[in-house]
Amino acid sequence: MRVDIVTVFPDMVRQAASASILGRAQASGKLDLRVHDLRDYAVNKHRSTDDAPFGGGAGMVMLPAPLFACVEAITEGATTVPVIYTAPDGELFTQRIARELSGEERFVILCGHYEGVDERVRQALVTREISLGDYVLTGGELPALVILDAVTRLLPDVLGNAESPHEESFGTGEAGAESLLEYPHYTRPAEFRGMRVPDILQNGHHANIAKWRRTQSLVRTRERRPDLWQKLLPLSKADQKLLDVYEAETNGQ
Ligand SMILES: C[S@@+](CC[C@H](N)C(=O)[O-])C[C@H]1O[C@@H](n2cnc3c(N)ncnc32)[C@H](O)[C@@H]1O
Repeated sequence: MRVDIVTVFPDMVRQAASASILGRAQASGKLDLRVHDLRDYAVNKHRSTDDAPFGGGAGMVMLPAPLFACVEAITEGATTVPVIYTAPDGELFTQRIARELSGEERFVILCGHYEGVDERVRQALVTREISLGDYVLTGGELPALVILDAVTRLLPDVLGNAESPHEESFGTGEAGAESLLEYPHYTRPAEFRGMRVPDILQNGHHANIAKWRRTQSLVRTRERRPDLWQKLLPLSKADQKLLDVYEAETNGQ
């Protein structure tokens, strides 16, 4: 997959993307990441990429001309390339969107700064606007890296089997059905500062371990994310039975 990131802080993106899964995915050729310095597309000798807002007020606005020139150069000759703008008022980024993007051959991410980009960029250049959440960050570089990371780890063979994304929260596999949070994990030692790993995880009975994990996922989702829980209702008979057993054991304690 090819991803082009347009930014006024290219080193910040390059450096963060050089480590861990993003670094490995690039080294193995599964991710073709191209980071573009927007200043290279500035149209004046000061290499400006922003200017004061029409109508007055605080803050600067990113100029349309460098953004159009950069994206046109990046997408020249290609038919339809999604152009994503990271914006606090965009659609909320979710695992569903990460999965959608992981199916694209390529896409572009524009990182905003200051007050954001000239509205005409959003009207005529951008095809999708994505927010990380209801808070305001200084720039679009961190959101771009978050999107890139979430998408890259879904690409085929980027994660080893041991790191499979299907079992994770919001995954698609059996134990990580859509909208279900992941179960707790434990590693050695079996007892740490008086806290014991549940016996069921230590006895090697795979069917019982799977049931325990599923139950924990259900309970966690119900407790922590009532919004996701509502989407799971009505529960399957099998899930309802797991919960009934859990309630009976918990109440019986
Ligand atoms: C300081 S913010 C601009 C905020 C904008 N004036 C507003 O009130 O919505 C600068 C840039 O950071 C990025 N950004 C900030 N918060 C974000 C968020 N929650 N999600 C995605 N991008 C964000 C956007 O690219 C934005 O253009």
